[in-house]
Amino acid sequence: MKRKRSPSTLFLPKPVALISTAHAGRDNVMTAAWVNVVCMEPPQMAVAVRESRFTYEIIRASGEFVVNVPSQDLWRAVDMCGMVSGRHQDKFALAGLTRERAQEVGAPLVAECPLSIECRVSASLPLGSHTLFVGLVLAVHLEEGCMGEKGKVEVESFRPYTLNHREYWSMGSRLGNFGDTASELEVIP
Ligand SMILES: Cc1cc2nc3c(=O)[nH]c(=O)nc-3n(C[C@H](O)[C@H](O)[C@H](O)COP(=O)(O)O)c2cc1C
Repeated sequence: MKRKRSPSTLFLPKPVALISTAHAGRDNVMTAAWVNVVCMEPPQMAVAVRESRFTYEIIRASGEFVVNVPSQDLWRAVDMCGMVSGRHQDKFALAGLTRERAQEVGAPLVAECPLSIECRVSASLPLGSHTLFVGLVLAVHLEEGCMGEKGKVEVESFRPYTLNHREYWSMGSRLGNFGDTASELEVIP
């Protein structure tokens, strides 16, 4: 039996990403778990950023951000980028991360992350404590070693991980494939 709890942001699993940004000669990298894909055509992503973050200021000023998805080996560096602000220090240096030049935006990619997605802000929605920045995807960069046949992502090489109620968890094994149940259905929506 489920027990009712008060309204909260409890939801799991959450992804873990590094949001890299740049403006006026400064750049930054911030950990975000409130991030997701929100539209297929055109492809768009969204990240919810609290107004007190340095990242918020930079996205507001530049209208750009990069979503970098780390593998589990990076979890300590990623945690670090969520513990301190980049307003007064270089978090790339602090966390041992490397900047890589992006192709469509001024913000750097995080070289160590196997997936980096360049975005230009297409909408922003102030919601309260956080503002939702929606970004049009301009370019996607996937590490060659994680690329399988026909554009497939090799999850075992990528090794993504998740945030589950303030704990980082690695992924288990593959359960099945997208659409495996379709053949059991009479009507496919
Ligand atoms: C796992 C994790 C997830 C986080 N997710 C978010 C998020 O989605 N949005 C947000 O505004 N802050 C989030 N934070 C907090 C920011 O990363 C943190 O306040 C950071 O120091 C802000 O950096 P900045 O001031 O350099 O932008 C998260 C922190 C951690 C550790």
